[in-house]
Amino acid sequence: MNVWQARIARALEERKNVQGYRIRQVAEQNDHCLNFASNDYLGLSRSSALIQAWQKGAELYGVGSGGSSHVTGYHKPLQQLENQLAKWLGYERAVVYSSGFAANQALIQLLIEKDDWIIADKLSHASLVEAAMNSEGNFKRFIHNDLDSLKYLLNKVDSDQAVLTVTEGIFSMDGDEAPLDNIQLITERNENNWLMVDDAHGIGVHGNEGKGTCDKHGIHPDILVVTFGKALGVKGAAILCSGSVAEYLVQKSRALIYSTAIPPAQAYTLLKSIEIVQKSDESRQYLQDLITYFKSELKTLGIENLSNSAIQPIIIGSNEDSLRVSQILKEHNIWAMAIRPPTVPANSARIRMTLNTKHTQENIDHVIGALRYAFGG
Ligand SMILES: Cc1ncc(COP(=O)(O)O)c(C=O)c1O
Repeated sequence: MNVWQARIARALEERKNVQGYRIRQVAEQNDHCLNFASNDYLGLSRSSALIQAWQKGAELYGVGSGGSSHVTGYHKPLQQLENQLAKWLGYERAVVYSSGFAANQALIQLLIEKDDWIIADKLSHASLVEAAMNSEGNFKRFIHNDLDSLKYLLNKVDSDQAVLTVTEGIFSMDGDEAPLDNIQLITERNENNWLMVDDAHGIGVHGNEGKGTCDKHGIHPDILVVTFGKALGVKGAAILCSGSVAEYLVQKSRALIYSTAIPPAQAYTLLKSIEIVQKSDESRQYLQDLITYFKSELKTLGIENLSNSAIQPIIIGSNEDSLRVSQILKEHNIWAMAIRPPTVPANSARIRMTLNTKHTQENIDHVIGALRYAFGG
């Protein structure tokens, strides 16, 4: 075995030893299951309106953009998408990226320079944490949703230093909301402190016209990141920001300049998706009602759940037990993933259940019955 092979074999073995080995499942193998694992909160990924939009977009503009948005890739639907996003979410500009992961990396990489600070919630998404760790700035994390911890860290920063405070609207593995209004009150005390909110799981689900968690809390962060692969049912992401930040990204963001732009058919589909999301108040209410019902039923199992979002984590603790519960759910034709460290903190492995508008109360009753069986009740 050479050095590479030995290193890789060791890492794989380590994962197996802690029951942390990940196996990808072909989605269609679970077609017979109730899907409580996806982030398709409004059930749009298979909507006929979006499928038709994709087909029409492909006919009109093609399935590939042919190059970076700086070369041939800036098609009309992409320009329209950026304009529509900016208008919908109340920003001067929007810049579209191929994924939320890429957008977060690009933004932090570009903004944060030596001696700057990036202060992020402890449970921030891997894309934010990795970008911050790779940046040249000082990276500190505050205790999850803890305002005192945030203030404590901000007090260490000189008032003339650039600070980026980073949090999420809805946390991806816990489903809880950041205290966004209070965080903005803290950050706006210092004009050199910009607030960035990643609202991957809030956009489309919360707020007036589905504008997201920031709208729900009545705040307007300096930078907002939204993704299209969850409630919007497609894929991709955008950074919402001022005109000058957008120009900075266009001039200097390597992930934008040196990467093929999203397919025009995709941008065309996203225009339709936003239109649908804006008009989906009834679906959002239906989802909220399901969430309330699910939580009240979980209580009968002694599971007190604090999340008010479509993400409901059932914390179990050990990897082994989480896999066991996930397997029992599968035997009851329910698809729900065991999420294990390092995706979540040590000893907090869980079943992450996500609700969507395709579910019914009967589906939830079935899940509760299966969970009762799994927990020996
Ligand atoms: C909070 C958060 N930010 C960013 C991302 C990455 O978005 P994308 O899937 O578009 O790369 C995710 C995806 O899971 C997420 O949960």
